[in-house]
Amino acid sequence: MKKLMNNLKIVSTGSYTPEKVMTNFDFEKIVDTSDEWIVQRTGIKKRHVVTDEDTSDLAYKAALKAINKVNYDTTKIDLIIVATFTPDLMSPGVSNLVQAKLGLSNQDITCFDLNSGCTGLIYALNVGASMLNSGKYNSALIIGSEVVTKTVDYEDRNTCVLFGDGSGCLILENTDEDKLAYIYATSQGELERSLYVDKYIHMDGKKVYLFAVGAMEKAIKKVLADSSLTISEVSKIIPHQANIRIIQSVAKNLKIGMDKFFINIENYGNTSAASVGIALDEYLSSKKHHENEKILLVGFGSGFTYGAALLTL
Ligand code: UT7
Repeated sequence: MKKLMNNLKIVSTGSYTPEKVMTNFDFEKIVDTSDEWIVQRTGIKKRHVVTDEDTSDLAYKAALKAINKVNYDTTKIDLIIVATFTPDLMSPGVSNLVQAKLGLSNQDITCFDLNSGCTGLIYALNVGASMLNSGKYNSALIIGSEVVTKTVDYEDRNTCVLFGDGSGCLILENTDEDKLAYIYATSQGELERSLYVDKYIHMDGKKVYLFAVGAMEKAIKKVLADSSLTISEVSKIIPHQANIRIIQSVAKNLKIGMDKFFINIENYGNTSAASVGIALDEYLSSKKHHENEKILLVGFGSGFTYGAALLTL
């Protein structure tokens, strides 16, 4: 894999989660669990779940928020990539449905979905950045969107308490400005099915946990080393929100203070490919000025996939 630095501009972000909320106390009525266990073992207090919306509805609503936030000229959009493992249909892709819902069906737009599990948004950024930097495309919607609850077995306490639904979107443009972007997206293929989805999500939690900690550490170190930056030059790390203890272990092992990490897992649970996008949008909304801040997105997922993206605001 070549080391390739890009310049990329995040023009706007948006996120959307469904209105309905399931708290840990709701799960106490469904399976043999407790609020105390879930909070202590994962950091999750509640998650948002769909009633009648599908993945493209969530993606569309996140994209619309990003567009409206900056009154974006949608005639510029020529690329839509949606990262998801829970598409509305096997075909067409969620990206095509988003194009239609945005009223852009008559515009030349390359649309496709990709599935890299919970690392999906970082993979979509990797592909989208390369396409923008090729000079062929000008403006991309990069979306992570999931209705994970479609695949949740509400009789399996090992998994059902962990997941939620949502969507996060970035509008990206090529730029001549000095806005360093460097993205690393990789995979450690495994055949043992430690984390897989057929009708339902199945997981060897302990094995995934151990993989996750090592993978996030490696991705953070790799991106910092390749871009010749130290952690003190990064203002925030926005990790995949799967388990607060995974993030705490990474922080401890890399000797990084927890205040460097943006955490919102307590409100959403694990929203798979949407999680980093939702967290990024919330981080950007949390204060007024971010100019030229360097941020680091990092994630892991089934495959096993993992990666990190260093972006400049
Ligand atoms: O995006 C990628 C997706 N997945 C992940 O990131 C998950 C990574 N793994 C994890 O987050 C953790 O491994 C879990 C949260 C899934 C589990 O935490 P743990 O500390 O690794 O617990 P454990 O698997 O060692 O289970 C401890 C006990 C078990 O009981 P026994 O066998 O010791 O009697 C489980 O059956 O906790 C039990 N348990 C529960 N108890 C109450 C498992 N789920 C629950 C539950 N409520 N919901």
